[in-house]
Order: sequence, then C-alpha cells, then structure tokens
Amino acid sequence: MTTITELFACVDEASGTAAPAARVGDAPLLAVVGAATTVPLVDGSSRTYANLDCAASAPALESVGARVAEVLPLYASVHRGAGYLSQVSTALYETSRQSIARFVGAREDDVAIITRNTTDSLNLLAGVVPHGGAVLVLDVEHHANLLPWVQHSGGGQAGTSRVATVLPVQPTVVATLDMLRTELARRPYALVTVTGASNVTGEALPLDRVVALAHAAGARVAVDGAQLVPHRGFSLAATDVDYVAFSGHKTYAPFGAGALVGRRDWLDTGVPYLAGGGAVRDVRADRTVWQPAPARHEAGSPNVLGAIALAQACDTLAALPAGALEAHEQALRDRLVRGLEQLDGVHVARIWPDSTDPVGVVTFTVADLDPGLVAAYLAAEHGIGVRDGRFCAHPLLAHLGASHGAVRASVGVGTTAEHVDRLVAALGALLERGTQAGYEVVDGCWSVVDDTRPLIEVQGLDHLAATAAAACGPALDD
Ligand SMILES: Cc1ncc(COP(=O)(O)O)c(C=O)c1O
Repeated sequence: MTTITELFACVDEASGTAAPAARVGDAPLLAVVGAATTVPLVDGSSRTYANLDCAASAPALESVGARVAEVLPLYASVHRGAGYLSQVSTALYETSRQSIARFVGAREDDVAIITRNTTDSLNLLAGVVPHGGAVLVLDVEHHANLLPWVQHSGGGQAGTSRVATVLPVQPTVVATLDMLRTELARRPYALVTVTGASNVTGEALPLDRVVALAHAAGARVAVDGAQLVPHRGFSLAATDVDYVAFSGHKTYAPFGAGALVGRRDWLDTGVPYLAGGGAVRDVRADRTVWQPAPARHEAGSPNVLGAIALAQACDTLAALPAGALEAHEQALRDRLVRGLEQLDGVHVARIWPDSTDPVGVVTFTVADLDPGLVAAYLAAEHGIGVRDGRFCAHPLLAHLGASHGAVRASVGVGTTAEHVDRLVAALGALLERGTQAGYEVVDGCWSVVDDTRPLIEVQGLDHLAATAAAACGPALDD
C-alpha cells in the first residue's frame, strides 16, 4: 500500500507542478471563530480540531462574531417600538434584509423573507405555490426539499390542492435533463425545485439548463441553496432562478436565521406562513387583512440578531476577491478526492459522473467498515469532525447503494490543506493497521470503550456522556 508521504508526492506530481511555497488552500481563506480550538484524543494528547463537517453547520466567521458583539448593546424590540434603540434595531434588521437579498443577486422586485433556515424557507414556499400548481422534484434532494412538496401534495386526489411528482434520478446529467424535458412536456408544472449543490456529493444539475427547460414549459424554478450559496457566487438575476432558500448556520452565521428570496407575486398573495402579530394590517372578529410579503410571512418577533449575523456573513463573503472562494474550496476538494481515490478500499460517491464544478462536499465508504465506526475513530484518534449516516437524503443514499450510510467530509472557508491531509492520512492508517482504541455501539452510537478523554471545561457539559448517546441514537433521522 502507498504511504502517505508517497501519496502526496503523487498528488503534486499529478498536478504537474513543483509545489510552490504557499498553495491555494494551505491557509484558511477567512478567519473563523474557534479555529485554534484543541480537542482531546484517546491517547491522552490533543490536537486542533479539523472541522470537516461544514456542510452540516459551519463555524462563525470572526467578522460575524464581532458584528454580533457590536450590535448586542443596541438590541431592542423592532418594528413597533418607538424608543431610540427600537428604531436603530429596526433599521439594522431591514438593512440586513437588503444585504441578504443583494448577496443572492435579487432582482429589484424580489422579496427577501427572513426565516429560520432552509427547511423553514422551503416549507414556506410550498405553502404559497398557487392553488393546484404541480411541483416537480428529483429524488436526489435533501429531505428539506422533498418532504414539504410531498406533504403538501395529495397526489392529484380530489380535495387536495397540489400534485408533487418525484422523478428518479438518471445516471448522467444529460439523461436527467432529458427526463425533466420529457416530464415538463407531459403536463403543466408550476414549479421545478432542485438542489443547487447536493449535500451528499456536492454535485448539481447545470442551473442554466434547468431554468431554460422549466421556463420554456411555463414553470418556475426554486433552488435549495443550502450547500450552494455559502460556497459559490450565486445570483437570482444572472441565473433567472425564481426562488432561492438558504441557511445562516451553513453560511458562517449560526444565529438561527435563514432566508427565502425570490419573486414577489406568490409571496404577496400566498397563504401566510405563520399567523400572528406583525403579519397583518387589520384584524376584526370576522376578518383579517394580511400584509404583503415579507411581513406577511414573518409573524411574531423576528430574529434580529440572526438576520444581522447572516447579513454580515453575506457582506464578508461578497467582499472576497472574485473567484477566491471557488478557488479555495475547489483546491481542497480536489486534494481530498485525489487523496481518497489513492486509498485501496475507499469509494467516493458520485451521482452524475458528467457533472461539473461540484462544491466541497465528498461522501465515501471505507472498505466494509461501519461509517459510524470510521467517524468515531477520526474524532477520537485524529481530532477530525466528519458526518456519518444517510445525511437526510435517504432516497439518494439508496440510489448510491449506501442504504446503510456513508461518511461525509465537507470543507469551508476555514478549512486548510492540513485538515484534508490529516483525514486522508488517518484513513490510510485505519486501512493499514486498524483502530488503536476499542469501539462499541452504545444506544446506536459508536463510542470509545472506556473513553478517558476529559471534557472541555464549559458550563453545561456535565451530562455530555448521556446526551451524546441520545443525540446519535437510532430515533433521530440520520
Ligand atoms: C442541501 C440541503 N438542503 C436543506 C438542508 C436543510 O437545512 P437546514 O437544516 O438549515 O434547514 C440541508 C442541511 O443539511 C442541506 O444540506
């Protein structure tokens, strides 16, 4: 078997260049909070945490942390408060909306609704598709872009308002686009909703082709931007996509806000997402006059700090030099995939071998090892955080032949080549000599036998052992 040193010599040779002093991806692209945090290992040592789980939730940008600290003393009730700080907070909330809209290239007449996350945004959108409008979706989607459509669908039965058609993905981009074209010609659709980047493989259909097909057939296009927007420049205006949904906690702003941005008409007239104060103009005992969007869908007290944090993340990412984000993440993804593919027994999953420009999300299996064991080993023996399971994309994992789960590594602006190399080296060592500690399944969760790693001293960790077992138990959707 190739040693790790030989492996990276191969990688450099394969790229055809002598390794320069500093390569793209050697250093973080942006400073993230906690980059120097160390975690304990089972051998009694400790290492800086290699966070390769950015697709699940990304660390906060330092600029986001600083912004939240700056505005916290100014925080007060918004919209209905007459106080000075209420007016400051209202202005900050509304300018945040503008930053968020600008970040995704909103058209002048688009509306940006502050939500909790992508799941919330897509559920909101599912409730405003005009009555009877059919929705077309592929079975590669994250459950957040599958279940809202299926749940709102009656399969065309009498008394129900919508039909959702879930098409099985085809083995190539070309074949999948052909299938979409055929289906769009078969019957009218109101909406085609697609992932901007798969949370399993980082791949996507070419959006320009999807938009062209859908618009030619009179359908709108929604993009689940959870894995796209934080990692690639995206513009509603440039792509002609009609709606985009994304999450703050995946966009380096983990303060509980997300967004749905897009065409105003459905959002102005659709069923209000949350009934309550702030979404209405006038209420009498026998009638309610609703506000137009965005207020129509933002009933209750909004997440002001979450919106400000998300806007700061958007502004920081937007201020990067053109192409820097893409170059950083592409270099790390390429390095990771090349490293994994050199390891006998590691298989990297692809939906479409002919897809181009995947984001830095890579899913793989390791020989016949349980993905949960691999993830526990990487954490306990190498200080690496990855995800294992079925990634809330059960139909796709079944299609990929990984119904029992897989391991996913994902990169972001705080990721470095050292994190990637550490993962590849750790997997090489695992294949070569197995785990050094003992592992067992406790309540459905792979754990170190007699784990002696000390808890980081922070309030609230007293019951970590009990909660950790509960958190990865089989009752949760994996
Ligand atoms: C592609 C994709 N869509 C939707 C979601 C749901 O995002 P959230 O949990 O922030 O609502 C995720 C989360 O992992 C995702 O990766």
